[in-house]
Amino acid sequence: MKCWKLVFSPTGGTEKAAELLAAGLPGEPETVDLCARDIDFGGVQCGSDDCALIAVPSFGGRAPGLAVNQLRQLHGNGAKAVLLCVYGNRAYEDTLAEMEDAAKEAGFTVIAACAAIAEHSIARAVAAGRPDGADAAVLSGFAGKIAHKLESGNASAPAIPGNRPYKKAGGGMTPLPDETCVRCGVCARECPAGAIDGQDPAKVDGALCIGCMRCEAVCPKKVRHLAPEVTAAVAGMLAKACPDRKEPELFL
Ligand SMILES: Cc1cc2nc3c(=O)[nH]c(=O)nc-3n(C[C@H](O)[C@H](O)[C@H](O)COP(=O)(O)O)c2cc1C
Repeated sequence: MKCWKLVFSPTGGTEKAAELLAAGLPGEPETVDLCARDIDFGGVQCGSDDCALIAVPSFGGRAPGLAVNQLRQLHGNGAKAVLLCVYGNRAYEDTLAEMEDAAKEAGFTVIAACAAIAEHSIARAVAAGRPDGADAAVLSGFAGKIAHKLESGNASAPAIPGNRPYKKAGGGMTPLPDETCVRCGVCARECPAGAIDGQDPAKVDGALCIGCMRCEAVCPKKVRHLAPEVTAAVAGMLAKACPDRKEPELFL
């Protein structure tokens, strides 16, 4: 059995949680970066005995459209899929349901799913430090149960929460460089949507930008960001609306 780690993680939180879960699954996984712009996703062919961990963040309670597009191009060929949605302690709503539909469309057999929490990529004070040690313990324990299910040949479908039709997708916010930007071009190269002009990083194609915050996260000079008052307002709103710590949810 070969293992795959198929991850869309613009700012690294989803990747962290995926690593914690993947560590307990059988074998060293082959990783496919669903944020990459230079990969032929249609060329990814899984085998029917393989196991694929598919991880994406929740954006507005939905799977990011770009991630779903990449996911649909893969060839699952009956491989068993473990879905992981990662969110910033508010809610993930229809994210796992949408992932389940896309994974099935790509030919995967979904056998497990999990919703885990990571720092909120718009307002990093929210769920700061997560996934933490307690999350790691839960994810590691769940990986053991998934490994056992795989070993036993049980390919039953878990009961995954979510509505169909999915909730309406929201738009993201676009971080912009301040006047100290040196136009190094890192943000343009790293943007999963190809929305940033390489010559003038202040120019962003609003139709392409998904507001994933990767440009802010990768800026080596830390001069690309949302307006501080916007970040503060989002953090304040989330702290008020979701004051309690959410815990990982597991579906087997
Ligand atoms: C545009 C956008 C929308 C988001 N929507 C939600 C949401 O609806 N609920 C939530 O709890 N977190 C939300 N988040 C937070 C992310 O789901 C969370 O920070 C996740 O870990 C980001 O993954 P990444 O670090 O791999 O980029 C959102 C973040 C962004 C950028």
